[in-house]
Amino acid sequence: MNKGIAIYPGSFDPPTNGHLDLIQRGSKIFEELVVAILRNTEKSPMFSLAERLEMLRELTADLKNVRIDTFGGLMVEYAKSIDAMCVLRGIRAISDYEYELQMALMNRKLEPTLETVFMMPADKYSYVSSRLVREVAQVGGPVKGLVPDVVDQKLREKLDPAYKLHMQMERKNVIEAPKRRKKKA
Ligand code: PNS
Repeated sequence: MNKGIAIYPGSFDPPTNGHLDLIQRGSKIFEELVVAILRNTEKSPMFSLAERLEMLRELTADLKNVRIDTFGGLMVEYAKSIDAMCVLRGIRAISDYEYELQMALMNRKLEPTLETVFMMPADKYSYVSSRLVREVAQVGGPVKGLVPDVVDQKLREKLDPAYKLHMQMERKNVIEAPKRRKKKA
């Protein structure tokens, strides 16, 4: 088992600034951090696995010791397969603790050599969760500052087809700057 490799598993639907904050902190502690997105066939996520993979890869492109991957089945099995020694999980508030403790202890029962390490994101993200971001964005509320800009844009494209079309046309340079009207003589 490699002491330097840690796994940061989750759904990341979508990745938030809290996730990114934890990835940055984790990347400073571990030799290699593998952000592992769960391939969950039961849930119907807002973002496809491919979309989440793409967003996380873009967001962590500058962190050389961070790798993004997907996994199915038991997390501990995947951790073993990549030779990880630690599982990194974020704890925002006491309310997270009970669930995280249960999960950590179950994972320890399944694989006693795998340690869970809890880290806290910056306090400004202590209330940010993917579920709340989805909820707010779905009814048109602002999530700027809670998610990275690229995620904010993807949310808007997903939830507002008109915005998506506008962005596509802008990328293709189809939209011209409004022409000035000629003054009447
Ligand atoms: O971001 P989430 O949804 O809180 O992450 C939960 C996740 C993916 C870490 C957890 O559900 C998981 O590890 N699932 C894989 C299946 C598994 O190993 N279950 C036993 C966990 S005790």
